[in-house]
Formats: sequence, C-alpha cells, structure tokens
Amino acid sequence: MVISICTQGLPLARIPIQCYLNSSSKITLRSQKTHSMPPEKIEVFKSLEKWALQSVLPLIKPVEESWRPHDLLPDSTLSSDEFIDQVKALRDRTNELSDDYLVALAGSMITEEALPTYQTWINKLDGVRDESGSSLSPWAIWSRSWTAEENRHGYLLKTYLYLSGRVDMHMIEKTIHYLIGAGMDWATENNPYMGFVYTSFQERATFVSHCNLARLAKERGDLILARICGTIAADEKRHENAYVRIVEKLLEVDPTETMMAISNMMCNKITMPAHLMHDGQDPYLFDHFSVVAQRIGMYTTNEYADILEFLVGRWKLEKLDGLTSEGQRAQEFVCELAPRIRRIQARVDERTSKINHKFTWIFNKEVSL
Ligand SMILES: [Fe+2]
Ligand SMILES: [Fe+2]
Repeated sequence: MVISICTQGLPLARIPIQCYLNSSSKITLRSQKTHSMPPEKIEVFKSLEKWALQSVLPLIKPVEESWRPHDLLPDSTLSSDEFIDQVKALRDRTNELSDDYLVALAGSMITEEALPTYQTWINKLDGVRDESGSSLSPWAIWSRSWTAEENRHGYLLKTYLYLSGRVDMHMIEKTIHYLIGAGMDWATENNPYMGFVYTSFQERATFVSHCNLARLAKERGDLILARICGTIAADEKRHENAYVRIVEKLLEVDPTETMMAISNMMCNKITMPAHLMHDGQDPYLFDHFSVVAQRIGMYTTNEYADILEFLVGRWKLEKLDGLTSEGQRAQEFVCELAPRIRRIQARVDERTSKINHKFTWIFNKEVSL
C-alpha cells in the first residue's frame, strides 16, 4: 500500500518508505513530520483547561455506572453446567454468522485491541499530554478515562469471538501482536489541533461501524452480539461528542489554525487506526479487510463522506468567518470535499470486479472481495 500525500487536495507525492513490520509486508509509511504546532499555541490549551473541566469531563461515565464486559458474556460465576449451556447457546447463535461478517468483526476487534498504540499517541500530543502518568490536568484525566472506557471494547469482542470457535484465535492474536508492534501513522504531527480533528472523525467512524455490525448481527439472529456492538457504539458516540466539542471550541478561539488542521487532516485522508495490521502472511491484509468491511456495509466510502458532511455541518464550517486568506482556502477545500469523494468512489465502483480472498482469521476460508 502506498499512501498519497497532498496539499489542498492535489496529489504531490507517493512516497514508499518500507515499514519495519516484516519482510513480506507491503505496508509503507509516508514521510513523518513532528511537532508542527507553534510552541506559543500551548497557551491556547492551557487557557481552555477550565472549559474542558466543565464541558468535556462530564462526558466520562462514572465508573460505578459503567457497563462491564462480563455482563454481556456467558456468566462464569454460574455452575459449570449452566455456564456451558450459555456457551453452547452463544455457539449456536454465532454458527449463523457468515464468514465475511466474521472477518469484519474480527478486524474491528483487532483495531480495538491496539489500544496501547492509541493511548501512546494521545500522550504525544503537545500541550494536552499526561505529563506524569497521573496528572490532574483535565486533558490528562480525559485521556486516561477515555482509555479505561475503550479498554472494554476489544476484550469483550475478543472473548465473544474466542467462545464462538468460528475464528482462528492464534492468527488473530498474531495480528494484534504485529499491529501493536507496528504502531500507527496518522499524520497528526503531535499537533493537538490535528489530533482532535482525527479523533472527532475516527470516533464517529467507529460509532457508525459498530452500529452497522449490530444491525447485521440482528439480521443474522444474534441479538446478544447486536447488543454488544450497540453498547460499544454508545461509548464511541459519547467519545465523538467530546472530541467534536473540543474542535468546536478551538474553532471559536483560534479559527484559522483549527480550519487549517481540519483541511490538513482531510487532505491526508483520515487513516483508519489499524492500517498497519499484518498477520505474517497477507501483505495487503488491511486493504483486504477494508474491502470486506465496505462490501458487507460495516464501513463504506459513502459513510466516510457522510461523516465529513456531518462535521462540516456540526462545526458550521461553511459559515465560519474571521479566517485569513489561507484559512479561507482551507475552508473552501473542506466544504467541497464530500461530493468529490462520492464521485471518485462511484468511478472506482464501476471498475471493480469481484475476486475471492482467503483470510487466516477464519482458517483460510475464502470470502469474496
Ligand atoms: Fe472502541
Ligand atoms: Fe473509540
């Protein structure tokens, strides 16, 4: 995979830099820019701490009121016979799930399981990182609480898939191992403006994809799995609200810098969190997983365009004023981007022909791409 770099929507370069995953991986990284936020902007985030305390931290759910993965899994505190009955019922339900759905669900779970990468990433953002590991800054409290809530997602889905017997856990665990080792390359440059734009988009994308997985599970008769995906989606929605609010506030206090950050992120294309996934065998694993996710309706390019349109509307970007001329160019680019994405995707769809592909996650069974 080669990732395009562009400015204002125009492709500038396709820079293949070999990632150090392993010799068979075809994944490449773009050239990496770091600490792009001017140091004086740190004061912007310091000045917003009181606001974050009042407007962001209330979106964390109190621990005592939070759901637990164990509440949605076979109850291991029951007698052995009763527990086994619940596991059998789970396996009967998951027997009805299609192979392509399992690929999509496994890919989603693997993405959640790379949480150490995401917590590392958020703590690399200038001006909002957790400096001590237990800092009382509202940004740090948010990042630790967000991580604690997210930590349940991968665990719950992984345990459910493990009990189903439908997936090759050895290969899935190997993929998680490779993925955490590889890290990520989201082009956010340690810049919290860009970082919070990324998380606004990404949390909404995971909300959409988990909702779609819930709907598909329901259609296939697994109502417990539908509830699990719906429960995770509700967390993602709350997290989306927090990040969207932060960017909204940044647009109010620093419109041009924030508009430039939105434009830069959209120009680079929002990279999915697990884009460096690898199973030791398929050099294009992430691309193949993405095609399955698109085809079964878990996450599509149209939804990517929908999310962009939603954020443009939510942040009132078309009406944003007080921008420099550079900011106005960025505004124009972002506000006109969604229809362009839809047109390009329609042309790609016309040319795409179906092939079959084997996924190690489901014992090398074939699904159509
Ligand atoms: Fe999550
Ligand atoms: Fe999330």
